[in-house]
Amino acid sequence: MEIIVLDSVEAIGKKAAEIVKETLITGQENFGLATGSSPEGLYKELRESDLDFSQATSVNLDEYVGLGANHPQSYAYFMQEQLFDSKPFKASYLPNGLNSNESDEISRYEAILKEHPIDLQILGIGTNGHIGFNEPGSSFQSVTHKVNLTPSTIEANKRFFESADQVPSQAYSMGIKSIMQAKKIVLIAFGKNKADAIAGMIEGPVTEDLPASILQKHPNVTVLLDSAAASKLS
Ligand code: F6R
Repeated sequence: MEIIVLDSVEAIGKKAAEIVKETLITGQENFGLATGSSPEGLYKELRESDLDFSQATSVNLDEYVGLGANHPQSYAYFMQEQLFDSKPFKASYLPNGLNSNESDEISRYEAILKEHPIDLQILGIGTNGHIGFNEPGSSFQSVTHKVNLTPSTIEANKRFFESADQVPSQAYSMGIKSIMQAKKIVLIAFGKNKADAIAGMIEGPVTEDLPASILQKHPNVTVLLDSAAASKLS
């Protein structure tokens, strides 16, 4: 893993955008994208750039079960606002939170991933070490699946909703096995509340109790941190 500690959230966004640019200009055009606060600086840099994604494809990590693309808290809506309205992609995929047929949705998404092997995967990390919505205890062999969100994830994500009871309790998520198949991974984390998860991910044992620790086994991971998120590294 390459660990890069930068002095501001803005600098993290700029560095991540440079890596996206390098990927794009070398003709690698399948991007695995994340939502949440961590990639917002990256998306701002991309919106303001002159990069052209019209030949690129994006496949997002996850979506809340029960929220459609018109729901302002859905990840589809987030991606539209943060990136796709300004930078249209040739094709953009997210799990369909409104598909109540779980096995149908899983096969649909797995087929998409097979057709568009990810060149660069962007990740954030949960305070409990989740990646995508693969919560602690998720199998390292998991592919796309429906997950029950943990109370700590619901608590962390309630800031986007009016109250915690409006946060959906389930999500569709790309699995850890699928994330590990990406050619390159960039994980972004900032703030003190990520410090324990980051220390465990980089210096702790590789364990399903801290899903991000599997990234120690990936050959091409860059971790972009601010000093607060890096503060518990030895
Ligand atoms: C989002 C996702 C999650 C977030 C994580 C961190 O698509 O898959 O794993 O990356 O919950 O969220 P933020 O960035 O809001 O702290």
